[in-house]
Amino acid sequence: MADRNAPSLGLISRNSLFCLLIITSFMFIFSWLFVLRSTGGAQFIDHSLLPNSKLFSVIDNRISEPRDRNCIQQSIPNRSVLVDDEEEAPRGKDLVKCNLNKIVLKVFMYDLPPEFHFELLDWKPEGDNVWPNLETQVPDYPGGLNLQHSIEYWLTLDLLSSRFPDPTGARSAIRVHNSSEADVIFVPFFSSLSYNRYSKVEAPQKKSRNKLLQEKLVRFLTAQEEWKRSRGQDHLIMAHHPNSLLDARRMLWPAIFILADFGRYPPNIANVEKDVIAPYKHVIKTFINDSSGFDARPTLLYFQGAIYRKDGGFVRQELFYLLKEEKDVHFSFGSVRGDGINQASKGMHSSKFCLNIAGDTPSSNRLFDAIASHCVPVIISDEIELPFEDVLDYSEFCIFVRTSDALKDKFLIRLIRSIGKEEWTRMWERLKEIEHFFEFQYPSQEGDAVQMIWQAVARKVSAVRMKLHKSRRFSRYKLGREKGSMVDPWSKHFW
Ligand SMILES: *[C@@H]1O[C@H](CO)[C@@H](O)[C@H](O)[C@H]1NC(C)=O
Ligand SMILES: *[C@@H]1O[C@H](CO)[C@@H](O)[C@H](O)[C@H]1NC(C)=O
Ligand SMILES: *[C@@H]1O[C@H](CO)[C@@H](O)[C@H](O)[C@H]1NC(C)=O
Repeated sequence: MADRNAPSLGLISRNSLFCLLIITSFMFIFSWLFVLRSTGGAQFIDHSLLPNSKLFSVIDNRISEPRDRNCIQQSIPNRSVLVDDEEEAPRGKDLVKCNLNKIVLKVFMYDLPPEFHFELLDWKPEGDNVWPNLETQVPDYPGGLNLQHSIEYWLTLDLLSSRFPDPTGARSAIRVHNSSEADVIFVPFFSSLSYNRYSKVEAPQKKSRNKLLQEKLVRFLTAQEEWKRSRGQDHLIMAHHPNSLLDARRMLWPAIFILADFGRYPPNIANVEKDVIAPYKHVIKTFINDSSGFDARPTLLYFQGAIYRKDGGFVRQELFYLLKEEKDVHFSFGSVRGDGINQASKGMHSSKFCLNIAGDTPSSNRLFDAIASHCVPVIISDEIELPFEDVLDYSEFCIFVRTSDALKDKFLIRLIRSIGKEEWTRMWERLKEIEHFFEFQYPSQEGDAVQMIWQAVARKVSAVRMKLHKSRRFSRYKLGREKGSMVDPWSKHFW
């Protein structure tokens, strides 16, 4: 029996071997094609650093029909051109043609009363207008330290102006007026400004204006159809100052927050999966035409800031004692106000490395001042979360040191002295390439902080949509109960 079966078995296995061979060759060729295609895409992302078009195109066909590949390539600015001459970004015919079907984040913005936004900037509404007419006048933002948390102002201006022509194709978000068509719902409350300017309780009142505005905001939002529809999950709320929105955050946590860091947030209210970290606006002057290389920067390591800080701030004192004997280290205490800004500009522009030590929060605008100065940041902050880190590799232009290491005798100074001219210069060049991502401006330009924030939000959209779709799986059973009125929205069970 065994003998008789043997040859046919052999035949079968020879046949199937042949089949297998054919199949594997097919799969090999197929996967090779696939690899070829996708490396094209990966290169494009790496080199351009503008995740924009490609990432948009994977989100959902509501925001994106796939774009013509040539068109995507065309709409990426030539970085060297951008750096040399910001005003004259390439705007060839192809670019404009492509922009006709450029796909961008669709944002619905509530027409909140002016007391929530531009009135906080002392803008006076005319008639029933909720918004300033940007064609005639753009309200000013107060200077000084308030500016570092001014993302609310720049994002709102960008949305308001999104109906203006966009010849350079910079835009990553447009305002839509039908909330059903929107990817996200934007809440234009200038919470940082409200905290900075109106936290004090004024005599007859029992509560500060900042607190009252937050209460009003929660009442307004939770009554909106848009909020009920998504339980707030597709809402975008800005709370860049670590103390802003202190009361309302406990109510509004399902939303996507735009924050400076998570230092003062419990993880159930804000976390890196759900929320977006935005840069501070730097207060130090941008170093235009910087030709100050390694040898032209006499100071090795620069730090200026307050010595006494709560919480994580003890590190500053410790480091001061470790570094104070080093000749080429500048370590001084004092805030960056008034002429301090000029001095700090000079100091950072003439230093190779700039220290960023955790203060009372993990982040500070000092990092963004260092980037604008092309002073290689040395980050000593174990809890820091950085803006756009999903598309930006900070290790290319920053040195990270664990706090426990930094506090070892000589560790930090030896590490920094070990970085030679060549390596430093590479980081310096990289800083000049990426500084644009941290620049807030109006009108916004392609790849600046405003557009980068919108793109970071766009990368959250599919996760939000997934949560929403999942929550609808069994919704048909609940329809009667849920339609129109919401059961206690804040009860844990509801979520
Ligand atoms: C982009 O910059 C490179 C280097 O400066 C230049 O050779 C090239 O022609 C530029 N391309 C465009 C489309 O401007
Ligand atoms: C808003 O958009 C939805 C979905 O596209 C549509 O059904 C609805 O009619 C629109 N509403 C208005 C007022 O245009
Ligand atoms: C930077 O360099 C360009 C070209 O060399 C020059 O036109 C421009 O005025 C310079 N800007 C500053 C602020 O020095």
